[in-house]
Amino acid sequence: MYLSLFFVLCISLFINPILCYVPLKRANHNSVIIDNRLLIFGGVKNITLDLLSYAFELFYLDLSVSFDVKNVSWALIPEGNSPPYSSHSTTVVGLDNSTIFQIGGFIFNKNTLNYDFSNLVFTYDYPTGKWDTPSITGDIPPRQLVRGVINNKGIIYMFGGYNATNITESEYIGTFYNDMYILNTKTMTLSLLSILGNLPSRCGAYSANILPNGIIIYIGGTANTTNATTTPININNIRLFDTNKYEWSQMNATGETIDSRWFHTSVLTTDGYIIVFGGCTFEGKFSYTYSVSPNLAVLDTNKNPFEWSIPESSKINSPPSMCSHAANLYYNYMIVTFGFLIENNSTFINSTFNSDVYIYDITSNSWVTSYTAPDISKSIKKSSKKALAIGLGTGVAVIFIILILIGAFIFYKKRGRILRVSGSA
Ligand SMILES: *[C@@H]1O[C@H](CO)[C@@H](O)[C@H](O)[C@H]1NC(C)=O
Ligand SMILES: *[C@@H]1O[C@H](CO)[C@@H](O)[C@H](O)[C@H]1NC(C)=O
Ligand SMILES: *[C@@H]1O[C@H](CO)[C@@H](O)[C@H](O)[C@H]1NC(C)=O
Ligand SMILES: *[C@@H]1O[C@H](CO)[C@@H](O)[C@H](O)[C@H]1NC(C)=O
Ligand SMILES: *[C@@H]1O[C@H](CO)[C@@H](O)[C@H](O)[C@H]1NC(C)=O
Ligand SMILES: *[C@@H]1O[C@H](CO)[C@@H](O)[C@H](O)[C@H]1NC(C)=O
Ligand SMILES: *[C@@H]1O[C@H](CO)[C@@H](O)[C@H](O)[C@H]1NC(C)=O
Ligand SMILES: *[C@@H]1O[C@H](CO)[C@@H](O)[C@H](O)[C@H]1NC(C)=O
Ligand SMILES: *[C@@H]1O[C@H](CO)[C@@H](O)[C@H](O)[C@H]1NC(C)=O
Ligand SMILES: *[C@@H]1O[C@H](CO)[C@@H](O)[C@H](O)[C@H]1NC(C)=O
Ligand SMILES: *[C@@H]1O[C@H](CO)[C@@H](O)[C@H](O)[C@H]1NC(C)=O
Repeated sequence: MYLSLFFVLCISLFINPILCYVPLKRANHNSVIIDNRLLIFGGVKNITLDLLSYAFELFYLDLSVSFDVKNVSWALIPEGNSPPYSSHSTTVVGLDNSTIFQIGGFIFNKNTLNYDFSNLVFTYDYPTGKWDTPSITGDIPPRQLVRGVINNKGIIYMFGGYNATNITESEYIGTFYNDMYILNTKTMTLSLLSILGNLPSRCGAYSANILPNGIIIYIGGTANTTNATTTPININNIRLFDTNKYEWSQMNATGETIDSRWFHTSVLTTDGYIIVFGGCTFEGKFSYTYSVSPNLAVLDTNKNPFEWSIPESSKINSPPSMCSHAANLYYNYMIVTFGFLIENNSTFINSTFNSDVYIYDITSNSWVTSYTAPDISKSIKKSSKKALAIGLGTGVAVIFIILILIGAFIFYKKRGRILRVSGSA
């Protein structure tokens, strides 16, 4: 009894450092939400002149508890390190809500310490905490700056992107594409769609969201680099891909004036608004970054054509200009993590990383400093053993109480027996 209590105390002491994990700043990472946790995958952690330091740790923010943005408790998944180092990839949650597909990007082999594009698709099974390199039928070329989206048939759509395979050189050598690859997550088949009509411009570093009707909305990104300069695609040029008919179409959005951008994020609300945040423009190929305005804009997809607006209240307490961050929508909150802070005309090499978390409340259209956990008591039902082990921190208190109750019960029973024994003597 006391041994098990001691054991629990040890675990709690042992786990606390994991719960108090302080991640290194990073950019060009991915984040997904599973089981009320915001999981962070990959990215670049540090940049020296010709070397990117890739990320591989898997850690999360528990969204079932409230927190203040000044005091964010990240937790490490100790066995969660990804098989390769990777950045600029895309990460998609499968229809089972437990498999995470990490596809493409710059992939660095941990053993050879060189680029390795022999496998482009990795899966992480959240319940068992196991990474896998699934065997895939079909081929896909290495691509970066792609945003994959999954439809309700389990097909991941990957549009265009960039095809460099080595960024240790002073310039990224590659080209942007406007093709569409699909990964059927049920058959694990990769294929290139052959669509010729209404093809949009070659593009990467856009944002993508899929509407419930199966239409993917592509916003922003860069136009093809015809010479050493990059130009963002006009933000009003909305590209639509219909996953039911396999057809492209384009639309000119109306409304307020929004700077064109890339390396921004977008989240889709349940009532059809797309919230675009951050991003930047470049001068030169991938050299000098510039901030864009406004920092946050909203696209109403209920209108035809779609309409841009800038909520006045979103300008108050706005985060600084940033790009290459990640953003997820969870209930009423958009949660922004990491990325590069933009100072005009600085290069990525000189960029400052953002270490803060920013929270935007979509109901009040305002930036808030505290996150209030929604009532998810009904959804905390099935957690993996691993998740449980890590979640022990909060569970310890409960276990404590249970143990005390058991202890009290045993004590009561022993006392009772002793009493009975003495009684019968
Ligand atoms: C990158 O790493 C070097 C050496 O570890 C360190 O001196 C430098 O401050 C780091 N830079 C950033 C931006 O984190
Ligand atoms: C930070 O949050 C933790 C719980 O997540 C809490 O125990 C601690 O008191 C907080 N610290 C401050 C300075 O608010
Ligand atoms: C996955 O999550 C979505 C949204 O929360 C839910 O509608 C769906 O039923 C879940 N699917 C499974 C297989 O649990
Ligand atoms: C990438 O480029 C660097 C410098 O040119 C070279 O040393 C390295 O071998 C290249 N890596 C691959 C995988 O081509
Ligand atoms: C990228 O595509 C261009 C144009 O097709 C090609 O010339 C180049 O070799 C490709 N780069 C890599 C690294 O595959
Ligand atoms: C995109 O760039 C590549 C290489 O610079 C060039 O060959 C191609 O024609 C360009 N495509 C378009 C549509 O501008
Ligand atoms: C190359 O970039 C310059 C500077 O933005 C631009 O003026 C010029 O038209 C570009 N050339 C081509 C062929 O696109
Ligand atoms: C969007 O506007 C441009 C001119 O700015 C025009 O050439 C193009 O046809 C328009 N596209 C659509 C789909 O209306
Ligand atoms: C940075 O550049 C953008 C675009 O050129 C400009 O709108 C903004 O005012 C600049 N910011 C600063 C701090 O100079
Ligand atoms: C940005 O910095 C570069 C290099 O220092 C310089 O050549 C260029 O003129 C600057 N651009 C602006 C708009 O200040
Ligand atoms: C940017 O970083 C490079 C390489 O570390 C350095 O040589 C240069 O002076 C830095 N530039 C600025 C403006 O800080």
